[in-house]
Amino acid sequence: MSVDLVLKDGIFIENGRETIRSVSIESGKIEGVYKHGDEPQYRDSIDCRGLYVLPGLIDIHVHLRDLKQSDMEDYETGTMAAAAGGVTTVVDMPNSDPPVLDRKTLDEKIARSQELSYVNVGFYAGIPSKIENFDVQMLRDILGLKVYPHAPLDHDVVYTPERIRECTKLAVASQMPLLFHPDLPPDNKVPKDMEEFFLSHSCEDEVKSVQSFIEAKIEYEARLHVCHVSCAATARLIYENRAEDTLTSEVTPHHLFLSGGDFRHDYGVAKVLPPLRSPYDNKMLMEALCKTWAIDCVASDHAPHKKWEKTAPFLKASSGIPGLETTLPLMLTEVFEKRMAWIDYLRVCSSAPARIIGLETKGILTKGYDADIVLARIQEDTIKGNDFFSKAKITPFEGRRVLAHAVTTIVGGVVVFDDGEFVTGPGIPGKVPVQKS
Ligand code: DOR
Ligand code: ZN
Ligand code: ZN
Repeated sequence: MSVDLVLKDGIFIENGRETIRSVSIESGKIEGVYKHGDEPQYRDSIDCRGLYVLPGLIDIHVHLRDLKQSDMEDYETGTMAAAAGGVTTVVDMPNSDPPVLDRKTLDEKIARSQELSYVNVGFYAGIPSKIENFDVQMLRDILGLKVYPHAPLDHDVVYTPERIRECTKLAVASQMPLLFHPDLPPDNKVPKDMEEFFLSHSCEDEVKSVQSFIEAKIEYEARLHVCHVSCAATARLIYENRAEDTLTSEVTPHHLFLSGGDFRHDYGVAKVLPPLRSPYDNKMLMEALCKTWAIDCVASDHAPHKKWEKTAPFLKASSGIPGLETTLPLMLTEVFEKRMAWIDYLRVCSSAPARIIGLETKGILTKGYDADIVLARIQEDTIKGNDFFSKAKITPFEGRRVLAHAVTTIVGGVVVFDDGEFVTGPGIPGKVPVQKS
């Protein structure tokens, strides 16, 4: 028997330890993992000596924009950024223009991304102000429902405890996880300075928001996912309410590695929601991710904006930063500097996010799983926004030293990105929309 492709003699993580293995791929799936010399016959091979053979990252929180916001990002540039960053599956948020509140908009997004994408793309939908208007036709092609209490997708809706309960009930009836941006409804006071901006998105508010969603989750036995946990106190609350896979959460690399104090005198470069917090929060979030498992996974919250929107003075600048091309270098640097074990890296970057959104054949490099793979090289470098494939090139990680980068990205057995270049056209590799197994 001859397989499609063998990734030969790469550094492979087995039982948490580095070893040398070859990975064979047949019909888009992993056919087997072999010791040197035991590989099956192949039609094609890649010499992986010196490269790490890792599962592609699964980023369950990205904003790929497109439609009326294609000047910020589109499915082509957003998924090029993913592939170049070693991310093989992304899930796109519904706060686009227009927002995903009906089947028609979802269809437009699916059509655009089928034509333009370089990786697997899944979708979330929002919930309209009148719950009874929720378009159930969306359910077959989405992976979850997402709500924004501080900036609702549909006007005229306030996230009272009653609204939270209604959304939770809808998620249960739809057999979907409910994802939410933890924050309180806006108080409609325009912040006069940076201090007021931070006060209106405080840790106290984040905790209160999580508390009220957890109450509804318990009442209706829902699946709840907390997006971008940013405060130590929130991680603690999640820890106290741990539950077998029904309460999950994510943290972004910027909330793990950056704190607000580093950007006191800067313009909007580091402006993001939730805001960057303190070094203490950074430390406790890392503990929640790797020690107590209160936080399940890493997600980038890739949120591209136009250049002028990020170079504006802080109060006028838009919130959100690009993240698809920095997650893998930052997280692997943690591994190579021995602050994170391999087993934790694999869990938080690939297997846990796949489990959270129900992708049962993704996130692990073993026989029968999808061949979504990144070959990474250990090499010291610095992050440079100008090198991004994303349209958004302003990053608060500019100049940061990292120890690794993605060299080759394989999606469904197809080599997409290799040595800085794209080797397929868009719309060829990957599944759009990605669906639950
Ligand atoms: O900083 C953010 N940017 N936080 C969000 O919740 C939304 C995102 C965006 O879409 O720009
Ligand atoms: Zn958010
Ligand atoms: Zn987001």
